[in-house]
Amino acid sequence: MMTKYTSGTPIDTEAVVRRFDALPVADFPFAHRFDGDKFIFSFAMEDGDIVYGLGESPRGINKRGWVYESYCSDDPFHTETKQSLYAAHNFIIFGGSKAFGLFVDFPARIRWDLGYTRQDTAEITVDGADFDIYVINGGSPREIVREFRAAIGQSYIPPFWAFGYQQSRWSYHNKDAVNAVIEGYDAENIPLDCVYLDIDYMDHYKDFTVSEEAFPDFAAFVREKRAQGIHLIPIIDAGVKKEDGYSVYEEGKANGYFCKKADGSVFEGGVWPGVCAFPDFLDPKVREWFGAKYKTLTDMGIDGFWNDMNEPAIFYSADGLKKALDKAASLSGEDLDLGRFFNLKDTFLGLSNSQEDYSAIYHNVGGEQVNHQRVHNIYGANMTKAAGEYFEKEFGKGSILMFSRASYIGAHRSSGIWFGDNHSWWSHILLDLKMLPAANMCGFLYCGADLGGFNENATRDLVLRFLALGVFTPLMRNHSALGTRDQEGYRFENPGDFRDIIQVRYRLIPYLYETFVKASEQNDLIFRPLSFDYPDDPIARECETQLMLGEECMIAPVYEQNVKGRTVYLPEDMTFVKLSGERAEKREMQKGLHYVEIALNEVPLFIKKGKKIPLCKPAMRTRDLAPDEAEFI
Ligand code: GLC
Repeated sequence: MMTKYTSGTPIDTEAVVRRFDALPVADFPFAHRFDGDKFIFSFAMEDGDIVYGLGESPRGINKRGWVYESYCSDDPFHTETKQSLYAAHNFIIFGGSKAFGLFVDFPARIRWDLGYTRQDTAEITVDGADFDIYVINGGSPREIVREFRAAIGQSYIPPFWAFGYQQSRWSYHNKDAVNAVIEGYDAENIPLDCVYLDIDYMDHYKDFTVSEEAFPDFAAFVREKRAQGIHLIPIIDAGVKKEDGYSVYEEGKANGYFCKKADGSVFEGGVWPGVCAFPDFLDPKVREWFGAKYKTLTDMGIDGFWNDMNEPAIFYSADGLKKALDKAASLSGEDLDLGRFFNLKDTFLGLSNSQEDYSAIYHNVGGEQVNHQRVHNIYGANMTKAAGEYFEKEFGKGSILMFSRASYIGAHRSSGIWFGDNHSWWSHILLDLKMLPAANMCGFLYCGADLGGFNENATRDLVLRFLALGVFTPLMRNHSALGTRDQEGYRFENPGDFRDIIQVRYRLIPYLYETFVKASEQNDLIFRPLSFDYPDDPIARECETQLMLGEECMIAPVYEQNVKGRTVYLPEDMTFVKLSGERAEKREMQKGLHYVEIALNEVPLFIKKGKKIPLCKPAMRTRDLAPDEAEFI
């Protein structure tokens, strides 16, 4: 049973699509109080209660023992001491003897102290007095997820080809670079469906432009790639370059479509193109206008996009930079003591994504001027909604691939997400795994991390092990940052190992796609913690390195360097299948702990007793797959 409690006059986030009659917050069933404008509620947790949820966020599957924050953050260091990442996914499940779920529908900051201050207490602080909170009682954690998901509406289903292998890099600077990627993969017979265009495809990083020099006759190029079975996926950033004569900027300015400062002037901040204005995506008129801009690229044959920097990321504001420079100038020639030196240094370091800047931004919400801090967590989601709404109207549901960096629940109906700028760290294989079920709980089914890791240099073995997990994630994209070592599969020694792994993906696509569609239609998860399925099994309950996949499988990737395999826990008898290229080696295994050897070119999969899954022949492109000819293993 899902019950809604309302306090004040909440801003409509459009997260929930089912209609509820709201009860007053005075009836809220947990100990609660208002502390000024903050609403704080708390309850006791028993020893051993598991806390699930919070979607894309740091740390474990079990969120207990840490304090998290819902605040969409452009932060490329996903260390375990962080409290938030790019998304605000305010749904959580307390899996005690009586499980219950909570969704705090509130677009500003929320603090989730889940046993950090006191290990037996959860204390949640909502940073405002206008909110809805939904409580879901009754049933198992999985049933709670289903009830929640039914209330927030069906998850986005991307086109079939979006399950193909995707190669990205910041950046493939021109046609030749893109062609080299396709040729590199084709020459090694490694399947590929998409190549990404990062910011450098644009003319001076201006949204909805294409550099004539780097991509002359872009439409013909897109057509040519499509004939080869390759989709090009350009990036779109939230900030619009301030430049006289640039039509997107001019139109936005003339119509008052950009975010403002308190005095009504346009808020300006620096991102890739230099000084930018930020479309006010909270305003439906602006969403309609910006959404229709994607047409510039769809008209050229583009059918997939990734929306970025939409937390929004602001490297500096014009005002912040001026203040910092004035401060530096005033100190010039002075003999700085340590305190003043660090203060100056911090002034510059604090220029990016500063709270002061966010507090200086205003939106038009239903004709009312609303401070950004009140709606921070739905800014990026509304950018993506702008695109999603346009695509649905123009091309019909699921025709265009769309995923975003920042998100809020509700955006799951029109897009997927990726988990942002991770690192080429071994620990980030597991971070990817841990976010998958949590993202699914919040409705985001089409998701995945930058495989191989985005920041820093990757090693061959790391990329292979990362990909072996990515074989199962709906978004299977290898992406890396500017200046890092090339990490396309064909760049390393023995590219055949990469072929072996990526072919497994193609063999599994019919199964993965069907599992995905079923999860979307039934408001279910693709990936589940083992504890969802084996709640009474003490080892399964604590498992943070394996996941259940669909009704048939369990996955257990290798996540450490210099190891030949891993220990895996089987909560029941299963068939262990080692998949590599066209090879599938099977072994029956009994419930319990096992050490299994897995070579770098192998993908481990565990199939439940009595279950079978289809495996088709690999192909170089998804369009050449023959799902009907799949064999069952
Ligand atoms: C951001 C994105 C990353 C992209 C880069 C350049 O850091 O998260 O994926 O490559 O910007 O556009």
